[in-house]
Amino acid sequence: MTTRRKFLVASSGLAAMPWFSGSSGKAYASGGIEKVWTPLPQSAADELSVAPGFKWNLLAKTGDRISKNGARFGDCADYTAFLPGKTPEHGYLWVNHEAVTTTVLYGKEVAGKDKTKAMIDEEMKMVGGSFIELVREKSSGEWIMNADSTDAFRIDAHTRIPLVGIAGGASALGTVANCSGGLTPWGTVLTCEENFDTAWDAANAESAGWSRFYKAPLEDYGWVVEVDPKTKSGRKLTALGRFEHEGACVQLSADNHIVVYMGDDAKFQKLYKFVSAGKLTGNAEKDRDLLVEGKLYVANMGSGIWEHLSLENHLLKTSGKFANEREVMIRCREAATLVGGTPLSRPEGIAIDQRDGKIYVSLTNNDQAGDFHGSILVLSELGGYHSGSSFDFDVYFSGSIANGLACPDNLAVGPSSSLWVTTDVSGSKLGKSMYRGLMRNGLFRLDRGADGSVTARQFAMAPFDAELTGPHFHQNGQDLFFCVQHPGEYSFLKGRGYTSHWPGGGSSVPASGVVAVRAETRIFACVSGQEMSVFFSARATAVEGNQDAAKYGIGGSFGAEKIRTD
Ligand code: FEO
Ligand code: CA
Ligand code: CA
Ligand code: CA
Repeated sequence: MTTRRKFLVASSGLAAMPWFSGSSGKAYASGGIEKVWTPLPQSAADELSVAPGFKWNLLAKTGDRISKNGARFGDCADYTAFLPGKTPEHGYLWVNHEAVTTTVLYGKEVAGKDKTKAMIDEEMKMVGGSFIELVREKSSGEWIMNADSTDAFRIDAHTRIPLVGIAGGASALGTVANCSGGLTPWGTVLTCEENFDTAWDAANAESAGWSRFYKAPLEDYGWVVEVDPKTKSGRKLTALGRFEHEGACVQLSADNHIVVYMGDDAKFQKLYKFVSAGKLTGNAEKDRDLLVEGKLYVANMGSGIWEHLSLENHLLKTSGKFANEREVMIRCREAATLVGGTPLSRPEGIAIDQRDGKIYVSLTNNDQAGDFHGSILVLSELGGYHSGSSFDFDVYFSGSIANGLACPDNLAVGPSSSLWVTTDVSGSKLGKSMYRGLMRNGLFRLDRGADGSVTARQFAMAPFDAELTGPHFHQNGQDLFFCVQHPGEYSFLKGRGYTSHWPGGGSSVPASGVVAVRAETRIFACVSGQEMSVFFSARATAVEGNQDAAKYGIGGSFGAEKIRTD
């Protein structure tokens, strides 16, 4: 467990937080903590619903001012990651912005070829990511955004971003299609470029038309971008390969290499992992370039081998198709096919349970493979090293109407080690045909029974035409963040008006947004001999249905003891 502790210390920075400095925090509850929540039944309502006993509050929505200098929150909020601040009542949230819901923005459909440069400039400001500052409001216990922050900033499609590593050297015009992401132990955020072609590929029939006004080589996109909140800047990590990156799940291997698991979310695309050349030292300054150099592998599911993507691999060398390693990284998909990477049904979310090292991977769906409902795989690295070269896997959960969960997307491991899953059934198909009875997308917890069976319990349900994205448990194990992405996406199609009015209700224009969820429970905590009342302490612990909060201490199951040890 030393490895795990090291990772937590390095990644969270929580060791320095007063909240975790007590020798042994203990907690006692004033009702509510024992509550095991009731899963939501399917229903058709244009709202964000959470399980009874919990409440959500909106932190930011599309267009909201996030900083003193007037930066604005982007559209289609996706991945979220909390970074600790100066106190437990202060912190920062990185939020990805995947795309622009143009039907909502313009109130009608507008083809790329019909947009003005001013329209495109505005769209380019709405993708990328937002770094926002949060404070916990004393009276309500809710996290709220500081819209006058001087720390908050945006990265968008206008920001110049250098490419570093084996295929580096150039500087790209911004980042786009920022889907999911990851957090590094040295305090940076990874934001992943997924469907970049819809923005920049003029040959794509659904192109947003941006290339009419800007020169942006496609080779500049499809990378993992590392954003450093300290410098408010990003860089594209070419050693992690170029494809339609869904996310980047960062893991410290037992031999101290940094491993990043990544899916290429397209039909018949593959699962990858990167292993850093260097080892983690725990010194952020020394570690900050660990993702610049390393080895990239693709999964051969049939043999359980991680195949090396390099000219050192004789299959690539003898193919004669790649002049150098740079080309292998840029044309990663082609190389992955040549070395035997297995085509999958759109690998999306990846999460790792730190208690046993098991790796969960969502395969969302692939109609061309007859897979409409998707599944979740569970992989184990053989030999116990995430940096190793072989693995085995099984199917952990199969999506179905009967299970109430189809098209799994983002994954997160909760404070009590259960797996949390968001779903992404296309808004045009929800409730219909092979998705009959599934009325809205949502967030589920998967409960594993003693007999090994896995049951999906719905915790949250999205407004119309939306999906829930980026579930992220605060390191305290108590707060849950996620986004509501593209409510009303199908507005103004086929003669309709707005198809959702979330979050404002009434006849308001819909907007994507990021929310914080907490239990409606007040409990009391005793840390370092000082009693304090906290509204928020029950949150994710109660979300997890944890019956024994005292066992873990008020810090939650990711709490004080483990993080403090080193
Ligand atoms: Fe952006 Fe594959 O979800
Ligand atoms: Ca996704
Ligand atoms: Ca998806
Ligand atoms: Ca999406």
